[in-house]
Amino acid sequence: MIIVKAQNYDEISKKAASYIAAQVQLKPACVLGLATGSTPCGTYQELIRYHREEGLSFQKVRTINLDEYYGLPATHEQSYSHFMRKNLFDHIDILAENTHVPDGLATNPNAFGREYDELIASLGGIDMQLLGIGSNGHIAFNEPGNCFVAQTRLVDLNQNTIEDNARFFESAEEVPRQAISMGMKSILGAKRILILASGKGKADAVKGMLEGSVDPLLPASILQLHQNVTLIADLAALSQTAESVLQS
Ligand code: PGA
Repeated sequence: MIIVKAQNYDEISKKAASYIAAQVQLKPACVLGLATGSTPCGTYQELIRYHREEGLSFQKVRTINLDEYYGLPATHEQSYSHFMRKNLFDHIDILAENTHVPDGLATNPNAFGREYDELIASLGGIDMQLLGIGSNGHIAFNEPGNCFVAQTRLVDLNQNTIEDNARFFESAEEVPRQAISMGMKSILGAKRILILASGKGKADAVKGMLEGSVDPLLPASILQLHQNVTLIADLAALSQTAESVLQS
């Protein structure tokens, strides 16, 4: 894994956006895997700047999002569909029909998950996947558990995730208890993976991902099996990781 050290969140965002912009310049019809949460917001702002000030076009880009809360319609303010429109899609020239976020109202979410994996395959796979990391080490909503799950499917959110995400809702009670999450097969199938981590709250998860064994109790550790992962992290997020690992 390539580790790119950033001084702070702003530098993470600028570096991540520069990688994504380069991907779009090199392959205008690329497939970008996108993430939600606090971490990628700065990256999306910087991509909007690339579009407005440097003429970067997303007209041919296709996007695939990692996850969606189950039970929330795309119009809900806390849905990830809404998040993507508000934070990126409404501000660039991407075509709505080229953007894909799991359907939080799918009546058969596991069948939907199979179709979502087929859709990703039919697009030729993901060229560049953007990821955040949960404080519990999750990627997408693949929560710690006793095995890695390949398929996109309905998942139960664990208590730690519900508490982490309560800040976006009026209270923890309002956080949906389930989500449709991309599975490890489609994530690991991406040609390149960019994972971002900012702040002290991610330091233990980052340490586990880099130093621990590949263990479903720390889902991000599976990225050790991928050939082309770049971690962009600030000093706080790297503060628990051994210097020897950062230098290797
Ligand atoms: P965050 O979430 O960016 O809001 O910290 C990351 C994640 O849970 O994957």
